[in-house]
Amino acid sequence: YDLSSANTLGLPCIAERFAAPADPKALRDTVALARAQGWPLTLLGGGSNLILPPQLSGLVLTPSMANWWVEERCDAILVHAEAAVVWHELVMAMARRGLWGVENLALIPGHCGAAPIQNIGAYGVELCDVLDAVHVLYLDDGREAVLSPEQCAFGYRDSIFKGELEGRVVITRLVLRLSADPTLRLGYGDLQARLGADPTALEVADAVCAIRREKLPDPARIGNAGSFFKNPLVPGPLARKLLADHPGMPHFPQPDGAVKLAAGWLIERCGLKGWRDGHFGVHDRQALVLVHHGGGNADELLAFAGQVAGAVFERFGVVLEREPRLAGGDMRYP
Ligand code: EPU
Repeated sequence: YDLSSANTLGLPCIAERFAAPADPKALRDTVALARAQGWPLTLLGGGSNLILPPQLSGLVLTPSMANWWVEERCDAILVHAEAAVVWHELVMAMARRGLWGVENLALIPGHCGAAPIQNIGAYGVELCDVLDAVHVLYLDDGREAVLSPEQCAFGYRDSIFKGELEGRVVITRLVLRLSADPTLRLGYGDLQARLGADPTALEVADAVCAIRREKLPDPARIGNAGSFFKNPLVPGPLARKLLADHPGMPHFPQPDGAVKLAAGWLIERCGLKGWRDGHFGVHDRQALVLVHHGGGNADELLAFAGQVAGAVFERFGVVLEREPRLAGGDMRYP
């Protein structure tokens, strides 16, 4: 199974087996089969935050249930979205209905089922701010469970699905808690400046789409996985030292005294914005995004990313952590 067009980086990848079960029973049966056969399992959603190796043995599984529905309670509006619902389509459907909560997260690529793994976030909002529950299926014994946001241990681009539960569950459904009353969050960047007074949820979503289209490359045109690195959290003293040398450096103090820096700014200051080496490059409008010009593979991408991170470390003493996850990590990569 050729997965080259099933990952937004456009990396070449051949999977030994592939399944896309479209209802919960088919998913349970497929997981049970993989377990019985001892096939290593790789979960694939929209493929927008994943680095695929040239070959994947075992079974690649894309949960393909794609229903969503709204549950209106007296105390809350809950939106249920199965794993394969396309995140951006859900956001736009909610914004058109006048439901608030996810409009700042418009145009983030990928499926709902992958959204909690990295706790998707943009323009001052993270998924965990609106999440009510996550339904999962355990791979080891097929049991199902509903996890609360607290159980998901969300952090910045982080969750239990990258830690203790990595490779142990399939996320089958999200439950979001939305609001019919405006909950405007326009503090990030120039979002406010692009909107008039009392904007609708749809106007906010459209403004977010416009900003993203200006900066972020369209994976349909050039391979990429959005931000390739997390914005680094550095200790206060290092941030103050860097600020003394670079007073204009974007910095976001955290409650615990650490300071979040803008990795894109650091990379740009190393003179790497728009830099290209072989099949990979640094995007020319947003240096945090690495792009695949075609013809490259995962190893070359990781080597290219290593050069970028190395340059930032050498210049600023700041370590950049990779954001997209490696698939088949147990087989090919340390
Ligand atoms: N900047 C530069 N040069 C660059 C890129 C950014 O100087 O090439 C500066 C900007 O001028 C700004 C600051 O860095 O002062 C932050 O830039 P931006 O608002 O573009 O956001 P970001 O920190 O680079 C993060 C998320 C994005 C998200 C935006 C908006 C991470 C890893 N990335 O990027 O998420 O859309 O904020 O909230 O946190 C993603 O995860 O794939 C992603 C696109």
